[in-house]
Amino acid sequence: MPKVTITTDNKTIEVPVGYAMIDMCEDHDTSILFGCRDGACGACMVRVLEGADKLSPMQDDERDFLETMAAEANERLACQCKVLGDVKIEVSE
Ligand code: FES
Repeated sequence: MPKVTITTDNKTIEVPVGYAMIDMCEDHDTSILFGCRDGACGACMVRVLEGADKLSPMQDDERDFLETMAAEANERLACQCKVLGDVKIEVSE
């Protein structure tokens, strides 16, 4: 099973392939915050430190929102990500 390491929480969580990151965060106590849950508020922004290609591909709506937010290239919206393999993330400031 893929492992998601959240460096901010010093925590590694195993999830099934294709598991939604938002569900993982609700199952386990993490410091990733969620607001709209729909890719529209930016509360759940995370920085992907390793394994960016192991997250579900970014869709146009997420890309457009991140551009509007002037996000860094390695930032994603956790509410829009499914876990496909091992990744290491941290909460964006
Ligand atoms: S919870 Fe609002 S963008 Fe993810």
